Amino acid sequence: MKLATTYLGLKLRTPLVPSASPLSEKLDNIKRMEDAGAAAVVFHSLFEEQLRPANHPMRRGSGNSGEFSRDALDDYSDEPDFKVDPEAYISHIAKAKESVRIPIIGSLNGSTFGGW
Ligand SMILES: Cc1cc2nc3c(=O)[nH]c(=O)nc-3n(C[C@H](O)[C@H](O)[C@H](O)COP(=O)(O)O)c2cc1C
Repeated sequence: MKLATTYLGLKLRTPLVPSASPLSEKLDNIKRMEDAGAAAVVFHSLFEEQLRPANHPMRRGSGNSGEFSRDALDDYSDEPDFKVDPEAYISHIAKAKESVRIPIIGSLNGSTFGGW
C-alpha cells in the first residue's frame, strides 16, 4: 500500500510520525523509531518556561492560563526535566539528524501568548 504523504513541506514515506516526548532525548531511541517505521520524529521540546524560569506560570503563584491543567504541566514540563539550554538543544538536533535518514522536526513548546 502506498502511504507516502507530505507534511510541513516534507515528503514522508508514511504518515507515522512520533510526537514530541522524552523518547527522542536519546539518539538510540530515535534510531529505533526509524527502524520501527517512523517517517519522521518530532523532537522533545524546548520549553518556553525553561528559558525564563522566573516567568513560569506555576511559579508566579497566579495559577496558569487554564489552557493546561496542573497535572498536564507536571507531566512534562516540571523543573527537574529542564536539562537543555537552546545551544544544547540545537546541537542535539544536529546529532540526531546525522544519525538517521528521516527528518527531525524541532519542537518549541510555548506556555504564554507571544512568549516566544
Ligand atoms: C510522556 C509525554 C511527554 C510529552 N512531551 C511533550 C513535549 O516535550 N512537547 C510537546 O509538545 N508535547 C509533548 N507531549 C505530548 C505528545 O507529543 C502528544 O501531543 C500527546 O501525547 C497527544 O498525542 P496522542 O493523542 O497521540 O497521545 C508529551 C506526551 C507525553 C505522554
